[in-house]
Amino acid sequence: MTANAIQAMNCEQLLDLRPLTPGFGAEVLGLDLRDAPSPATLDALKQALDTHSLLVLRAQHISETQHVELSRGFGDLMIHVLKQFLTASHPEIYVLSNVAENGKPIGNHKEGWNWHSDLSYMAEPSMGSLLHAIEVPPEGADTLFASMHAAYEGLPVDMQERIRPLKAVHSYAGYYGKAFADRAPLSEEQKARTPDVIQPVVRTHPSTGRLSLYVGQDIVKEIQGLEPEEGAQLLADLNAHAIRDEFVYRHQWQAHDLVIWDNRCTMHCATPYDDNAYRRVMHRTTVKGDRPF
Ligand code: SIN
Repeated sequence: MTANAIQAMNCEQLLDLRPLTPGFGAEVLGLDLRDAPSPATLDALKQALDTHSLLVLRAQHISETQHVELSRGFGDLMIHVLKQFLTASHPEIYVLSNVAENGKPIGNHKEGWNWHSDLSYMAEPSMGSLLHAIEVPPEGADTLFASMHAAYEGLPVDMQERIRPLKAVHSYAGYYGKAFADRAPLSEEQKARTPDVIQPVVRTHPSTGRLSLYVGQDIVKEIQGLEPEEGAQLLADLNAHAIRDEFVYRHQWQAHDLVIWDNRCTMHCATPYDDNAYRRVMHRTTVKGDRPF
């Protein structure tokens, strides 16, 4: 038996895991993260994330501090460039919300309503995110997750070969301009922190060696070396392929859910809800990753 297989077996023994789809995602049962996980449990969670790409833990009544401490167990945390949406006590927590307090939005509303992998616009993007549901609407506002391993492996071999050497430009300024055209533009400092970056279209998972598609809507500006029309068409085709039903898990949120996902091999997309009738407050931490290859 290989070292990886033994590790995976140990992880299955330590955690009670229930698959969410035939291909990816698992619910972790019976863990209460108010008690800091032991090093062995944390290792098992990381191993489960490598295997399943996405973990759901229901009914986690954790504080902001516990959320941040748990996230640090996965690696260094990234601080979002939109500082106005970080919590006052924990700048590692980025708030997604339609709620305003004292006339000021407490979080970024309509963030992530496009298919993307978190912070792919950074040279060293996020390896994973931990999203904690504080308040959720009774309907709508699901989050869709796509397995980019399954999407890549589901491509015809000639397409896999064609795209494997390609590189794409990821642009936060480009995304921001499209998603938030009604807001003040990014400041010079924010732009300086988020220059366009070049990422591979197919990336290798550093822990498992599995390949995955690394694309996204709005955030990917162009594919290098292709005529603009050809590149735009290829990108649209790859994005459409990646979000086919068989690659997607739909998460219907309950308050206090914690969802942990691997940004190196998934994309996700938040969905709309009646934001006049309902409040949604979500807290996200993002764990730093390595340069994609
Ligand atoms: C995100 O894009 O990270 C947030 C997804 C969501 O709000 O459901």
